Amino acid sequence: MLYDTLIRNALIIDGSNTPGYQADVAIRDGRIERIGDLSEATATEEIDAAGRVLAPGFIDVHTHDDTVVIRQPEMLPKLSQGVTTVIVGNCGISASPVTLQGNPPDPMNLLGTAAAFVYPRFSDYRAAVEAANTTLNVAALIGHTALRSNHLDDLLRTATPDEIAAMREQLRESLEDGALGLSTGLAYASAYNASTDEVMQLTEELTAFGAVYTTHLRSEFAPVLEAMDEAFQIGRHAKSPVIISHLKCAGVGNWGRSPELLASLEEAAKTHPVGCDCYPYAASSSTLDLKQVTDAHRITITWSTPHPEVSGRDLIDIAAEWNLPLLDAAKRLQPAGAVYYGMDEADVRRILAHPLSMVGSDGLPEDPFPHPRLWGAFPRVLGHFSRDVGLFPLHTAVHKMTGLSAARFGLKARGEIREGYWADLVLFDPATVRDVADFNDPQRAAQGIDGVWVNGVLSYRDGQANGRREGRFLAREGDLRKGFHQSKSPL
Ligand code: ZN
Ligand code: CU
Repeated sequence: MLYDTLIRNALIIDGSNTPGYQADVAIRDGRIERIGDLSEATATEEIDAAGRVLAPGFIDVHTHDDTVVIRQPEMLPKLSQGVTTVIVGNCGISASPVTLQGNPPDPMNLLGTAAAFVYPRFSDYRAAVEAANTTLNVAALIGHTALRSNHLDDLLRTATPDEIAAMREQLRESLEDGALGLSTGLAYASAYNASTDEVMQLTEELTAFGAVYTTHLRSEFAPVLEAMDEAFQIGRHAKSPVIISHLKCAGVGNWGRSPELLASLEEAAKTHPVGCDCYPYAASSSTLDLKQVTDAHRITITWSTPHPEVSGRDLIDIAAEWNLPLLDAAKRLQPAGAVYYGMDEADVRRILAHPLSMVGSDGLPEDPFPHPRLWGAFPRVLGHFSRDVGLFPLHTAVHKMTGLSAARFGLKARGEIREGYWADLVLFDPATVRDVADFNDPQRAAQGIDGVWVNGVLSYRDGQANGRREGRFLAREGDLRKGFHQSKSPL
């Protein structure tokens, strides 16, 4: 039997949250055809992976890669980490279905300038991803704020019944064309005044499809538990799974509350499919929000349209130079992006280690001085948090970025190393894998990632992308509620 590829002698960590085992893996026609002792077999390409771990390709469940997957399809920040699938459309912002009136409203500007928004229907976006021959697989959520921007003349209010009806129609059509579900970004001014009822009515469209509701909560500060309750209420109303995006305790006054948040999540999980994603850093990043300007912790400006020269500098230094209070300096920088060092490390670890949490980068690919999560989130969990800190075993780290994620988002035949599954794979050195990108030098590829296969095709090897682009658009398949019962992550 001649296979396309044989990966020999690897330690297989299969994504199911069970310890690794030694085996050979044979790939043919994009799929994992056999796993076992294949010493008799031959292949066009054979790789000796002794001393290395072979894991399912990582699934980045929280991205803002909507337009970059089309405009820069090599996707090096993600490919170099071992990511093989990105889920776009998080935090209420998606590239489609969007018809802009002028510039994209905050925070849709995180996805690019107006020129990047050329997908009036979700099917247009899907076709563009397919035509772009992206390196990675792409699955997509529909953003609530994107829908609002299509139909509301003023984003600072709740929608009227007619506007809700129009948004529902666009959402339904998108779900029919393969979108995974609806995301909201209720903390942002552009969605903050949307009532719970507006969101609940939209999520009624999810029910028939078994589609998912993901949410950047209305608050991650003092009222975070109330915001979680709102998310669960919406999910129960829609009979839809709920994924809380980048769960965190934001702001110094909120530190130490992660046990309360996780208790709330566990309580909800007893009766409803819920989970969360998180990124492995104690700093957040988004557009510069005047409500988050504080002297209680460090804030770095990552971009500013009127003052591009300050990219990478701290707000406090800019304000001192301009002889202005922090808030006035922040106003002068708008529109802008920022990193907020507003979390407590113990909270980050507790949430990351929780069985209901998946890893998602929340990386911002448009940012000229991005938060290092864009290039480092996944290797940081493997190297720093699993190996060096000992927060959890390596197979649990892998599960949180593969098997659990695929189950939650209904990505069929992906997320685990099993015969018949798609050969999305990453080969890495467990002794050396580490994130290199940091807050001072954030655009650096990880170390220790030896090879990345997407749909059976080796696309990254020894620190280099090779130009192969075999990613696919992944349409929603079946009822996503089912993925919450199969998980091997009991509480
Ligand atoms: Zn968000
Ligand atoms: Cu996000």
